[in-house]
Amino acid sequence: MKQDSNHPAIVEMSRTHPPLVPAVFDPEYRAALDAVLMRHTPSEIAGAHRWMGTDADRAAGAIFTGRRLGSVPEPGRIVVTNGTQSAFNMLIGGLVGQGQVLAVESLTYPPILTLAQRLGFTPCGVALDEEGMRPDALEALCRERRPKAVYLLSTLQNPTLATMSLGRRQAIVEVARRYDLQIIEDDIYSMLPETNLPPLSALAPERGWYILGVAKSLAAGMKIAYVVAPSAAQGEAQFWPGVRATFWMSAPISAAICTQLLESGGAQRVIDAVRTEMQQRQTAIRPILDGLDCVTADGALHVWIRLPAAMSAKNLAARIYQRGVNIGTGDPYTTPGTTPPQAIRVGIGHARSQAELVAAMQVIAAAYAAEAAA
Ligand SMILES: Cc1ncc(COP(=O)(O)O)c(C=O)c1O
Repeated sequence: MKQDSNHPAIVEMSRTHPPLVPAVFDPEYRAALDAVLMRHTPSEIAGAHRWMGTDADRAAGAIFTGRRLGSVPEPGRIVVTNGTQSAFNMLIGGLVGQGQVLAVESLTYPPILTLAQRLGFTPCGVALDEEGMRPDALEALCRERRPKAVYLLSTLQNPTLATMSLGRRQAIVEVARRYDLQIIEDDIYSMLPETNLPPLSALAPERGWYILGVAKSLAAGMKIAYVVAPSAAQGEAQFWPGVRATFWMSAPISAAICTQLLESGGAQRVIDAVRTEMQQRQTAIRPILDGLDCVTADGALHVWIRLPAAMSAKNLAARIYQRGVNIGTGDPYTTPGTTPPQAIRVGIGHARSQAELVAAMQVIAAAYAAEAAA
């Protein structure tokens, strides 16, 4: 639900922000800022764009993404952007373009649908199962509509939380190769789970556009995402300044702090603290969710609660909101032609404390019971 600013007591659970871990984050961020300002004057930092990232930014981004990709990509393939959404804007605009088709999961990250209207491409939903996008459905779409690219999450899909097995990853890559699809892979939720399955972009580096944002592992407000292009030349063709725009470039101070955090190990210490906090949160809410048809997973920042056929997600969300908790439904994720899922999406990282989270979850469980009885 859209938040009502006149309702101060509201607990925000419609978003998937990671929990704040100030005991670790604050000293690490302060130390990184100090180190940056020791090395460079403010005018050096703010006096120019960072373009695709400085050499140091790109080298740090290569090591960071290399942890997921299995080997460190050549830093020339890295583009430092002002968050994942900025990267989408450039990549989907450039790789797909007006009047063309982008294959997406049938329930997809809502800004993709907004971008489709702005950029004039057609998002076509591909059926999902418990492992995410189905290769047979992707192949059928390729035959019928000839998409230019596919956008997907292979780990902790948003909103269903599906994670692809290795076999599923290989099957999707095979279809992409057969139909010459570019793969725009959003791996933003991959830093918290302990599992380490390779991204599709590691299996098909020649067509993988790998995006690793820090919003779900370090902090949403840092606004940094690293893109790994198939090659340095292809990265430049999509992002080189002057080609299209500069709005996607990172704010220099944020890029500099992120590089410092990656170089000092501070980023890993923050991620470890976020992971530990999330494990505790998952444990705290588990008993309250007992009996609900609820999907969650190691490292997940939300729970996806499927509702009985007779229950309306919209009514349930409204009832929960009246009791002071804001949650999301599946509706905004629904691609054209897909039936909206009867499900709610409850972020568990954003509540200010575990106590607040537990109390809010009890409100949700009570509202669910009341809705079921109504
Ligand atoms: C799937 C997915 N991609 C990207 C983002 C946002 O990324 P950024 O803040 O880096 O633009 C989100 C945040 O909700 C998300 O769920």
